[in-house]
Amino acid sequence: MRLSRLLFQCLFCFALLVIFSQCADNSVPQIQFPKTDLAAVPLIPKPASVIATENAFGLDQHTAIYSGAGDAGLAEVAAMLSDYIKEQTGLEVPLNGANTAEIHRAVYLNLSEAMAEEAYELYISRDTVLVNAGSAAGAFRAVQTFRQIIPEASNDTLAPYPIWPLPSGKITDAPRYAYRGSMLDVARHFFSVEDVKKYLDVMAYYKMNVLHLGLTNDQGWRIEIKSWPKLTEVGGSTEVGGGPGGFYTQEEYQELVAYAAARHITIVPEVDMPGHTNAASVSYPFLNGNGKTPQLYTGTAVGFSTFDTRKDTVYAFIEDVVREISAMSPGPYFHIGGDESHSTRKSDYVYFIERVAPIVKKYGKRVIGWDEVATAKLDSSAVAQFWADEENATLAVNQGMQVLFSPAKKAYLDMQYDSLSVFGLHWAAYIPVDTAYSWDPESYVPEIGQENILGIEAPLWSETISNIAELEYLAFPRLIGYAEIGWTKPELREWEDYKNRLAAQLPYLTRKKIQFYPSERVPWGKPDSELPWYTEK
Ligand code: ACM
Repeated sequence: MRLSRLLFQCLFCFALLVIFSQCADNSVPQIQFPKTDLAAVPLIPKPASVIATENAFGLDQHTAIYSGAGDAGLAEVAAMLSDYIKEQTGLEVPLNGANTAEIHRAVYLNLSEAMAEEAYELYISRDTVLVNAGSAAGAFRAVQTFRQIIPEASNDTLAPYPIWPLPSGKITDAPRYAYRGSMLDVARHFFSVEDVKKYLDVMAYYKMNVLHLGLTNDQGWRIEIKSWPKLTEVGGSTEVGGGPGGFYTQEEYQELVAYAAARHITIVPEVDMPGHTNAASVSYPFLNGNGKTPQLYTGTAVGFSTFDTRKDTVYAFIEDVVREISAMSPGPYFHIGGDESHSTRKSDYVYFIERVAPIVKKYGKRVIGWDEVATAKLDSSAVAQFWADEENATLAVNQGMQVLFSPAKKAYLDMQYDSLSVFGLHWAAYIPVDTAYSWDPESYVPEIGQENILGIEAPLWSETISNIAELEYLAFPRLIGYAEIGWTKPELREWEDYKNRLAAQLPYLTRKKIQFYPSERVPWGKPDSELPWYTEK
């Protein structure tokens, strides 16, 4: 296997030599690029190392992309790069094996077994761009860097055709955390497959790699379970405020999983229990443990629902749900919620979590739960998502569990930016864009060291938002900062530098039609009237 790959790479290098000997041919014009500075490109997340060499690679109609054919997933990454270039510039950049006489420059994707999974090196020189990556995921992250380096406008004075000069140099990069995520609460208000895909696109652009979907809550059950159809027929029929709700069929959910996987993003499904279960109990009342007759709920209170934790049939139900969802979720995690179970007796809560965790394990998944789950006895494969209680997070570490950082005071995307924000809540804090950026998981809880931190996740709860524009108001631009916290070492992060790089995202956000919140703390460089959410005073 290794030998055949080596052989392929030799043949590949030979093919490149042929191409470049043609480049040396006098018939190929030698373009004189103005001096460039790769280190000045406003990349987010900021890479570990950038060395500028002041020349440029001319992305143009004579460029092609090559990828090692034997390398798992690399051809798909190459195809995505070609699509991204087309979307951004209109250029049709061919993949492996195009007519070499027309090709003056090449982008080559290569795997390097010695490198960590998501690590990459990007060498940009006059006639080649070479990506070395630890895996297809690393190559995909490199492709996002490449996209961010492509200038917004072509230079039409260098040749009789448009050229997008990419500043030359070398970038060496790798993520700080293995888990860099966001959560969408599609239960309080439902969001369509198209909305979630748009969110995934932006997450990918900033190198995030996990989307946690809050699929169930008191107000709605949003994922089809074939063995329990009323969950969606009844439990999916409304949402906060009484709107029509909705749910993903299993086919739609799988479409989302595949769309995410193509972007090297893992979907983490959450079924919140034993509290936050009103929609399930309305659908199947035997599940209910709070002694009242459940009714569909469209308000925003929490803590009033619970499963009956002492009934075997409840665990048989949970096993069906875990089995069906796990079969469609190739990622390693299953999120069992476990937060705010205020109507469950403490002893029942612990009994419940300790009975559900082995069911999740049986279907091959690692348990994630909100930090309260650490009050139960769990093994070290489980993950506690720290959102509120440092004591719970510390309990998790004492059990050998990893902690996922989502402190509500810093990382909750549904918190208002300030008292004038038109959407969001403020029970944890107001979180302006600089506050969202200027903290670090490693120094947040003294008892929790770097070795115990799995990563960071920014949850977006949807009590106050009911469409994609409102979702984008809360998520952007803060999500971009969380992406950088997850990827970049803290010694390379600084708000005064970051805010300028963030402002430079305006063309991308505009191209993607993202209705971001135009915080006055960010120097966007445009009049308010040209930014989203502008209203005449
Ligand atoms: C939570 O915010 N209830 C996890």
